[in-house]
Amino acid sequence: MNDFRNLPAALKPEGIWDKVLSSHAFDIEIARAQGIYLYDPAGERYIDATGGPMAVNIGHGEPRIINSITEQAQEYTYVHPYLANRKRAELCAEIAKVTPGDLNTSYLVSGGSEAVETAIKAARQYHVLTGNPGKHQMIGCYESYHGMTLATMALSGSPAYAKYFDPMLPKWPHIQQYSDFRKPQDMDRDEWAVACAGELAQAIFYAGADNVAAFIATPIGCGSDYGLVAPAKYWQEVKRICDENNVLLIADEVVTGFGRTGSWFAMDHHGVVADIMVTAKGIASANAPLGACTVTDKIKAPFEHTPFLHGFTFQGHPLACAAGLAVLGILHEDNLVEHSRSLGEHLHSYRDQLLSHPTVADVRGRGLFLVMELVERKDTRIYFDAERGAEHLYQAIGLKNGLAFYSSLYGARRGAVQRGLPMWICPPLTITREEVDDLMHRLDQTLTEWEETLGVR
Ligand SMILES: Cc1ncc(COP(=O)(O)O)c(C=O)c1O
Repeated sequence: MNDFRNLPAALKPEGIWDKVLSSHAFDIEIARAQGIYLYDPAGERYIDATGGPMAVNIGHGEPRIINSITEQAQEYTYVHPYLANRKRAELCAEIAKVTPGDLNTSYLVSGGSEAVETAIKAARQYHVLTGNPGKHQMIGCYESYHGMTLATMALSGSPAYAKYFDPMLPKWPHIQQYSDFRKPQDMDRDEWAVACAGELAQAIFYAGADNVAAFIATPIGCGSDYGLVAPAKYWQEVKRICDENNVLLIADEVVTGFGRTGSWFAMDHHGVVADIMVTAKGIASANAPLGACTVTDKIKAPFEHTPFLHGFTFQGHPLACAAGLAVLGILHEDNLVEHSRSLGEHLHSYRDQLLSHPTVADVRGRGLFLVMELVERKDTRIYFDAERGAEHLYQAIGLKNGLAFYSSLYGARRGAVQRGLPMWICPPLTITREEVDDLMHRLDQTLTEWEETLGVR
C-alpha cells in the first residue's frame, strides 16, 4: 500500500473559497503557469497533462498572445457588437482560411456552450427562412457532451441530466455513435460504419424528416468511446443521409479544432465538410473566453436578407479576438498543426506500454490527443464503483507525481454507463519530445500506484 499522506490536499471550502459555488474537489491553487507547466504557491511544478479541459493549445504565458491582447487593450477594450470591431472581422477572415470547404462565415461567442447554442439556433432559423418551419428537432448521440446550457444538455441524452432538469430539457432524439466495441465480429469496420450511420436514417424516419433540423456529433467519439476515430465511411454516410433528408450536419470541434488531432480540424481526417462547425477552447488557447459558430455559404445565404435573431453583449469581444488572432498566427508561424501530427505519433507509440496496465482497456485518439479507457476489469470493461473514489484518487496521485489532469465530466455525471472511464492526455501542442517522454514516465508511475492502491493486478 502506498503512503498518501503527502498527497496534495483539496482546498477546503473555507474563507474566500467558501464563496465560490463549485463542485470541483481538486482545485489546487495555481500561482503561475509557463509553457506546459503549472506552479502552485509553494513552487511545486505540475505538467498540464490535459491542457486544462483540452483547451490550452499553445503553452502558457506566450508573449505573442499577451502582447496582442495588451495592444488591443491600449486601443479599446470593448465596443458594442453593432459597431464595427476590426479584430472581429480579421479573426473571422483568418478562421475562414483554415476551415474546410466553404465554411467561410463565423459568429463569434464566448465559449463552447454558446457556440453550440448558436449552431442550434442558426440551423433552426435557416430552415424557417428556407420554407421548412416544421424542422425543429436536433438529433444527438447518447453519452455526448456539448455544453451546460439547457439546450446543449438536451443534446447529450444523459439520464443524469434528466434527473435535475426534466421537464426543462427539449425532448430530442438520440442515436448510438459508431463504436468498435459493439462491432459484430463478422463485419469489417466499413460495413459496420454503414450500419451505425443507418441509426441516423432510422431516427430521422421515426421523427419525420420534416421535423428534424440537424444532427450534431463530435468527430472523434464521445463518452465511453471518446477519442475513437471512426472510418471515414461513417462520416461520409452520415453526411449523405443528412443531405438526403435536408438535415444539417453540425460538427462539434470544440475540443478537436485548431490542431489538436494533427490536422486543423478533426473532420479533415474524414474528408467531410459539415454544414455548421463549432469551435472554442483552443481557438484562443484559453487566454480569453472565445468560441465560434462557422457556417457554409449555403447556410449563410438566407441570413443576408433576414437578420439572425441572436446576440450577446460579449460576442466578438475585442480582447478575445486579439487572443484568437495571435493563436492562429502562432499555429501557422510555429507549424504547430504539423508538430501535433508528428509528435502525436510519438505520444501514441506509448500505446502498448499503457495497454500493459491492468486498468487500461483501450488507447485511442490522434495527434496530441490520447484517450485511455480506464476500467476495473478488462474482460467486462466495468469501471470502479463510485464509492471507491477511484477518479479522485487517480488525480491526487497524478498531482503527487507532478501531473495535473482534467477531471472527467464522464465520471459522476454520466449516469448508468457500463463501460470504462475516458481519461485524456492532451498537453499544449508546443510540448517537446523530451517533455512527452517525461509526462509518459510520470503517467506510467501514476497508473501503477493507482492500481496498487485499488488492489488491481
Ligand atoms: C465537445 C464539447 N462541446 C461543447 C463544450 C462546451 O464548451 P464550454 O465549456 O466552453 O461551454 C465542451 C466542453 O467541454 C465540449 O467538450
